[in-house]
Amino acid sequence: MNPEPLLTVRDLKTWYPIRRGVLNRAMGFVRAVDGVSFSLEKGRTLGLVGESGCGKTSLGRSLAGLEVPRSGEVLFRGEPVPPGNRRGKIWHKRIQMIFQDPFSSLNPRMTVMDIVTEGMAEHGMLKGSREQAAREVVSRVGLDPDAVFRYPHEFSGGQRQRISVARAVSLNPELVVCDEAVSALDVSVQAQVIRLLKRLQEELALSYLFISHDLAVVSTLSHEVAVMYLGKIVEYGPTAEVLHKPQHPYTQALLSAVPRPGKEKTHRIVLPGEPPSPARPPSGCRFHPRCPQAMEVCRSVDPDARTRGPVQVWCHLY
Ligand SMILES: Nc1ncnc2c1ncn2[C@@H]1O[C@H](COP(=O)(O)OP(=O)(O)OP(=O)(O)O)[C@@H](O)[C@H]1O
Ligand SMILES: [Mg+2]
Repeated sequence: MNPEPLLTVRDLKTWYPIRRGVLNRAMGFVRAVDGVSFSLEKGRTLGLVGESGCGKTSLGRSLAGLEVPRSGEVLFRGEPVPPGNRRGKIWHKRIQMIFQDPFSSLNPRMTVMDIVTEGMAEHGMLKGSREQAAREVVSRVGLDPDAVFRYPHEFSGGQRQRISVARAVSLNPELVVCDEAVSALDVSVQAQVIRLLKRLQEELALSYLFISHDLAVVSTLSHEVAVMYLGKIVEYGPTAEVLHKPQHPYTQALLSAVPRPGKEKTHRIVLPGEPPSPARPPSGCRFHPRCPQAMEVCRSVDPDARTRGPVQVWCHLY
């Protein structure tokens, strides 16, 4: 057995240039992902949560090779994964991504058969006929094999998302980045797609980076959770620990905003102001201008990770 985790991310930064003027020069950068480190084991799910704009999609896209990071390392069992612009076929196959919008992520002019076997053909993975391969893949995600002759518009949102899942798993990937993959679906359909993702994880030993703004959804399938704020992870640990005993004031605020069934109404912590712009992150701890517990040190010193039992928290309180 290889002792290295499936995925190791070290100090990853993905910045977008802000271009202005006739010369189109970079006047600054949006620091969407600004020094993120974590690891993910085979067959496990890391939930990634945080407010809109904190960099979740940018992180997912950087892992999937769709954005080119500015610096940092991504390793697969210790082996460096080249950035998107230098990534060969093999890496595109090993890391797949599923997007939120099943209505725009599938080509309306392609049949389901072509959608789910396009990648397999490209990677020389088709052994028998295309139709046979497509039938196997769609039945694996719980669709009728005859669906292969139909077009995306003939399916419901949940069925289309199953087609996206089929396309991703057809390449036998090791890591699937799910970016708000169930967010556009009704609650009951959401539950079905989540069950499907869990079943496929067991059958194929898949690892997921599961991005969602919905903490309830994240809690149903993540083994670990990472909470992101303005381009950085502020708290990371086992799902139950992070969601039931949040330690970072930001995680506490995020959770207090969610009504939880069967729980006493928690006191809702209202954070002052909007999140600051990732183009000009605050000094010190970037959460300090909104933090109800900010201290003097928080203004100037960016906190390192503190280990609190199984949880890591980037906060001067500990
Ligand atoms: N292609 C891009 N060019 C410039 N800035 C971008 C680009 N993509 C994202 N950004 C900016 O980077 C920051 C992080 O965006 P990102 O989409 O990663 O956040 P997110 O956490 O996925 O948000 P949401 O929950 O709304 O999906 C935001 O400030 C966003 O405006
Ligand atoms: Mg996003």
